[in-house]
Amino acid sequence: MNLEEIKQCAPGEIKACKDAKALEAIRVKYLGRKGELTAALRTLKDLSQPKRRSVGQRANKLKNELELLLEGRLREFARESSQYKETIDITAPGKRVRLGHLHPLTKIGREAKQIFSSMGFAVMDGPEIETEYYNFDALNIPPNHPARDLWDTFWLRQNETKNQRPKTKNTERLLLRTHTSPVQIRYMETHEPPFQIIVPGRVFRYEATDASHEINFYQIEGLMVSKTVSLANFKYVVESFFKQLFNRAVNIRLRPSYFPFVEPGIEVDVSCTRCSGWGCSICKQTGWLEVMGAGMVHPHVFEAAHYNPRDWQGFAFGMGLDRIAMLKYNIPDIRLFYSGDLRFIRQF
Ligand code: PHE
Repeated sequence: MNLEEIKQCAPGEIKACKDAKALEAIRVKYLGRKGELTAALRTLKDLSQPKRRSVGQRANKLKNELELLLEGRLREFARESSQYKETIDITAPGKRVRLGHLHPLTKIGREAKQIFSSMGFAVMDGPEIETEYYNFDALNIPPNHPARDLWDTFWLRQNETKNQRPKTKNTERLLLRTHTSPVQIRYMETHEPPFQIIVPGRVFRYEATDASHEINFYQIEGLMVSKTVSLANFKYVVESFFKQLFNRAVNIRLRPSYFPFVEPGIEVDVSCTRCSGWGCSICKQTGWLEVMGAGMVHPHVFEAAHYNPRDWQGFAFGMGLDRIAMLKYNIPDIRLFYSGDLRFIRQF
């Protein structure tokens, strides 16, 4: 082929190509090592000087043109294929977006906070890693109390290098708080009564797990202190709390009980949320469910916080949030909350 023939044929052939592979064959046919144009360029050396120059220029120009055409066609292929990928079928059914949602414990915690806030309680917070002093001593829990036992408390390992050890007093040993009650002391150390607070938070117990026990769970502590606050006020507060939380009238029963940091100490039962007191498997046929410990703040606790127990009185309570969520949502096993099983979580 001479240059003229190449110029006639090549552009049409490039245009007619349907894919990159065919295009490559055309490139080889004209511009490859044994291609037509390459051969034409090779014959230049046989021409006379002036002719060589003009033919050489034409040949190079044609080579550039063909290269441009080849590139352009290749870009077209790329564009076509990406257009194909971006095709939107507007008749296809939509994709459902799965939204996440709050964990049942988070939900019930928020509801509880909201109800107590509406009754004028401030919401407080405290550390999950506590000292032995705040978790036990300041709450009038004597050193020989079983809660300090290895089997109830997660103690944190101290730095055991010899030269640092003597500086640490025994009461400064660290642990994972076994209840939210230490925040009673922390709050009173820095605030003056009258006040009313709740303290929602995570607590830890070193015990065997079963359907109603976990190594960590959530509590809400309550503390109300003034010159006159009494158990009657407490009764009103818990009654209206449970009425709002369960959305119906519930009966409250107070039983004498013992906690070192209250005097008198009481245990609070609510009428069974499932059978309303008639007796069922959840309340073990008693009609009552145990939901919290409470009582009037012990004078020793006020003293630990540098209050004069002759000036102030107050009630304190602590309830297990998991337990209440189990009642409200009818959940049979506390371990489900922490299992991370989506089949469980998605039911709420
Ligand atoms: N801290 C107690 C517990 O964890 C509950 C409690 C709190 C009891 C306040 C009385 C007063 O069991």
